[in-house]
Amino acid sequence: MSEFITVADDQGIRTITINRPEKRNALMQAMYAAMIEALDTGDNDPAIRCFVITGTGDYFTSGNDLADFADSQNSDDVSPAARFPSVLTETRKPIILAVNGPAVGVGTTMLLQCDLAYAADNATFKTPFVDLALVPEGASAMLMPAAIGKMAANELLLLCDSFDAPEAQRLGLVARLFPKEILMEEVMRRAKIIASKAPSAMRASKALLGHDKDAVLAFITRANQIFAERTASPEFQEAAAAFMMKRRPDYSKFS
Ligand code: COA
Repeated sequence: MSEFITVADDQGIRTITINRPEKRNALMQAMYAAMIEALDTGDNDPAIRCFVITGTGDYFTSGNDLADFADSQNSDDVSPAARFPSVLTETRKPIILAVNGPAVGVGTTMLLQCDLAYAADNATFKTPFVDLALVPEGASAMLMPAAIGKMAANELLLLCDSFDAPEAQRLGLVARLFPKEILMEEVMRRAKIIASKAPSAMRASKALLGHDKDAVLAFITRANQIFAERTASPEFQEAAAAFMMKRRPDYSKFS
């Protein structure tokens, strides 16, 4: 279990908190592994009825840790980061997001794979995969157009436009917005309602409401292969180096 992921169980609710505020809750492989373990074990524990995922401090998450990703050892198909979207797909119990602040990369694409999402009214969202010379991770290139339509999805996934909380709500990516101070209270109130309902009816309903699981998993496998190739590319090395050096990437020399 990573020191940067905390897991707390209360009244049938497993709360998974991303706890690395000094790095804006950027996710390293060990953190993905800890979240996967918390989801896997909770999904198989009859005492757990649903999950809440949130972040400590001002950020939900700034997405993949770019230093960690620049390390090519981490770019294979079975890395925890590559497995995470599949685990979200396969989790049978409801996952509720409490987006407490800016959500970058996987922080935004998680919206597509959770069952309920609530956000602080000052949260912002961004999927800068192409800006980083990557491709949209996991199932996002499949699920984003399905959720919000092709053109809106392309503005987010190709232009890498950022958007604010009211826009996220307008697009249907979050259910409701709350002032940050009461976000957790409101989310936990709803999580308790979910946790009190008939568990197998809840799991069956979640499965019916979702996309075809096998199609999503097959898409993720394909996207992971391309994503892994991208992390090994000179274009991504340039993007990662630019981030570390706090400069803009220069893609002019690539064809
Ligand atoms: N990976 C690795 N480190 C990250 C990070 C990430 N995704 N996001 C933030 N950090 C680190 C910074 O390097 C910095 O570390 P330092 O204090 O050792 O220099 C620290 O977190 C604070 O970040 P900083 O950029 O100074 O904070 P900010 O409030 O000005 O900006 C962000 C926050 C999130 C807008 C900015 O850090 C950013 O753009 N991060 C990259 C986001 C991204 O592209 N994620 C990948 C998605 S696939």
